[in-house]
Amino acid sequence: MPGSANLNIMMKAARKAGRSLVKDFREVENLQVSMKGAGDFVSRADLAAEEILKDELLSARPTYGWLAEEGGETHGKDPTRRWIVDPLDGTTNFLHGLPHWAVSIALEHKGQIVAGVVFDAAKDEMFYAEKGQGAWMNDNQRLRVSARSRLIESIFATGLPFGNRPDLPDILQDLGRLSPATAGVRRWGAAALDMAYVAAGRYEGYWERRLNVWDIAAGVIIVKEAGGFAEPLNPRGDLLQDGNVICANEPIFEQFAKVIRNN
Ligand code: IPD
Ligand code: CA
Ligand code: CA
Repeated sequence: MPGSANLNIMMKAARKAGRSLVKDFREVENLQVSMKGAGDFVSRADLAAEEILKDELLSARPTYGWLAEEGGETHGKDPTRRWIVDPLDGTTNFLHGLPHWAVSIALEHKGQIVAGVVFDAAKDEMFYAEKGQGAWMNDNQRLRVSARSRLIESIFATGLPFGNRPDLPDILQDLGRLSPATAGVRRWGAAALDMAYVAAGRYEGYWERRLNVWDIAAGVIIVKEAGGFAEPLNPRGDLLQDGNVICANEPIFEQFAKVIRNN
């Protein structure tokens, strides 16, 4: 797909940050002997990737605002446009040497996400979309959500709470209702890729609570442009603000949402 200038800037930045992360990822295994060493190293890799992205994106578009996981928010001269960035989504996978993590970049214009890029650098898969232009992977592979329409033949992904987060009971109840009705539920550990995989038809749906805007901003437009639905878990909520997301292909969405929303 011939992308806009902004999309090309986003993909170039994602590739550059991705190269830096891949180099660091190869080092992580050598550091596993010292957990603290590995943890500090990954934090530095994460920060270095964010610096690369900031440098690339803001030197190309100096008037845009900036919101990123590590460095927070900076207002731009142009109050209508903002980059929303997660330099490394799937940090725990990265730390454990699991090749499932991504760089995520979205462009917001007047409160709407107008372009998104999710780059899985370890597998060299670039997922991207622009409003009204469809969703794509790598050079010219058009993305379409899957056509499966029966829950029992469908697989879903979610995120399980970790540490002492309070939302374990909710997700356990979700799983109790959903799992028996489906072909399975996966937990891969990178929200941005979960959404890209729904767009690519690799699984039928995904839901998760308590995410941040940088986890989902790029994924939402990729799912929608691939023909899928991405909505807030609470139908009256605001998807990007609440961070509780449910997305799926069109034929599955209603049935899936009914089970997850428990209505
Ligand atoms: C995390 C991942 C994970 C999700 C967490 C996120 P991070 O992002 O997307 O899949 O379950 O809630 O915080 O911390 O690796 O950027
Ligand atoms: Ca994240
Ligand atoms: Ca992150």
